[in-house]
Amino acid sequence: MKNQYKFVSAEEAAGYIHNGDVVGFSGFTPAGAPKVVPTAIAERAKALHEAGQEFKIGIYTGASTGDSLDGALARANAILFRTPYQSNKDLRAVLNAQDAHYFDMHLSHLAQELRYGFLPKPKFAVVEACQVTDDGEIVPTSGVGILPTICKLADHIIVELNRACPESMRGMHDIYEPLDPPCREAIPVYHVSDRIGSDCVKVDPSKILCIVETNRPNEVGCFAPTDPVTEKIGANVAAFLEAEMKAGRIPSTFLPIQSGVGNIANAVLGALGENPHIPPFEMYTEVIQDAVITLMKEGRVKYASGCSLTVSAEKLNEIYADIDFFKQHVVLRPQEISNSPEVARRLGLITINTALEADIFGNINSTHVLGTKMMNGIGGSGDFTRNAYISIFTTPSTAKGGKISSIVPMVSHLDHSEHSVKVLITEHGVADLRGKSPVQRAETIIENCVAPDYRDALRTYLKSAPKAHTPMNIDTCFAMHKAFAETGDMHNAKF
Ligand code: COA
Repeated sequence: MKNQYKFVSAEEAAGYIHNGDVVGFSGFTPAGAPKVVPTAIAERAKALHEAGQEFKIGIYTGASTGDSLDGALARANAILFRTPYQSNKDLRAVLNAQDAHYFDMHLSHLAQELRYGFLPKPKFAVVEACQVTDDGEIVPTSGVGILPTICKLADHIIVELNRACPESMRGMHDIYEPLDPPCREAIPVYHVSDRIGSDCVKVDPSKILCIVETNRPNEVGCFAPTDPVTEKIGANVAAFLEAEMKAGRIPSTFLPIQSGVGNIANAVLGALGENPHIPPFEMYTEVIQDAVITLMKEGRVKYASGCSLTVSAEKLNEIYADIDFFKQHVVLRPQEISNSPEVARRLGLITINTALEADIFGNINSTHVLGTKMMNGIGGSGDFTRNAYISIFTTPSTAKGGKISSIVPMVSHLDHSEHSVKVLITEHGVADLRGKSPVQRAETIIENCVAPDYRDALRTYLKSAPKAHTPMNIDTCFAMHKAFAETGDMHNAKF
């Protein structure tokens, strides 16, 4: 790289951003998200607030980010609006206190809605890269997110050139942006490993306002280790899929897996990997996490397409150390493609996501604790569930030490309707909802999935509801939520 670009400190870069500006950030989860510029923006916000001036910015990201972005800006009260997903405790507190406007979106929708002009145009793109060339080629790091779209739409690009990510990452990404209607054509991904774009994002070099050099590791936290409940859920998922394959409803070569993020997903992948009857499989997913890398090295995962390497520092170093192997087995795509409903439907994904709460009819709440408080967001779960070959939701049957039943008469917030949800799995068993009427679904879920000490209450509720296609007792459908609010224990619900 010649000296044509301006190299500045994070503080100088943050100085370009003013109150009311709209900023798009690269990355997906903490992987590939900028680190030093957002923290410097937060510091600028604090200084301006102390001087009695207003400073808040609108923020687009791929998904969640690290604490140096969402946490720092939330604590500085510097967020005007935020979309599409987050998982930071300080930001969560700000959103639930209505100190920032948050709107929850399907992750595959964001890039196109920005291009369609449905949302305010980003003035700045702040992107993490491992390489920037003289002619404006930007190579992302371990996460892509909405990087191509914000680089195209923004007036100015600020690059965090992160030396902690080797330039040899070039070649792992496949950057492709579809045309917009009425010119959109098929996204030509016909196999998980198909590459359809380029290995970098190309921009007009004059749009690169400045470069901030860094050497920062990703802020990927550790997930809670698996426990007997998550291990039982994982075993139940693996047994269900093995039986489906034996019954001929899943081909013997298997189908690509999408799995959510967290310790349940790790347990599910572990159980699939250990099952000798399930052949080596592929993943078409958004987040590639530690378990995938382990299974890939063991030959159990053949190929993974995703949007980010959301792995521990130890696993990331393993990848960097064996980059040629991983470039042959991993592709990182923009979230518009990793989560594309068109591609999910075509490839026939087996999707496995986690519910916060489910109801006896198979409706799912993924986002709102007790119906009102935002937890994280819908993320990619809707992109995949609605378009799956077979969609599975997992959840521990209870929360808060058993005081909450994760399965209730009616979900307190709806993210995935009964029409999209094919299978519900808890540590107690599997409810296969395919081809069942609402009452049949309710009976199956109560008998197979609900914690034994909540079954009688839900049986009583179902019997008490006036006979109808979908029975509902409007006086008691939220009795369990009410009991928890009033007594701290759903066992006290009266039906
Ligand atoms: N009612 C109230 N609170 C509940 C609850 C319920 N039914 N179920 C769980 N909780 C609480 C837990 O006690 C925990 O509280 P704490 O933070 O105070 O300890 C919190 O909610 C999170 O529960 P946990 O079991 O730790 O969740 P998780 O890490 O397995 O995440 C989701 C579950 C649903 C929040 C997470 O999967 C998510 O954000 N999903 C939406 C996005 C998505 O699916 N992405 C993947 C697509 S690829």
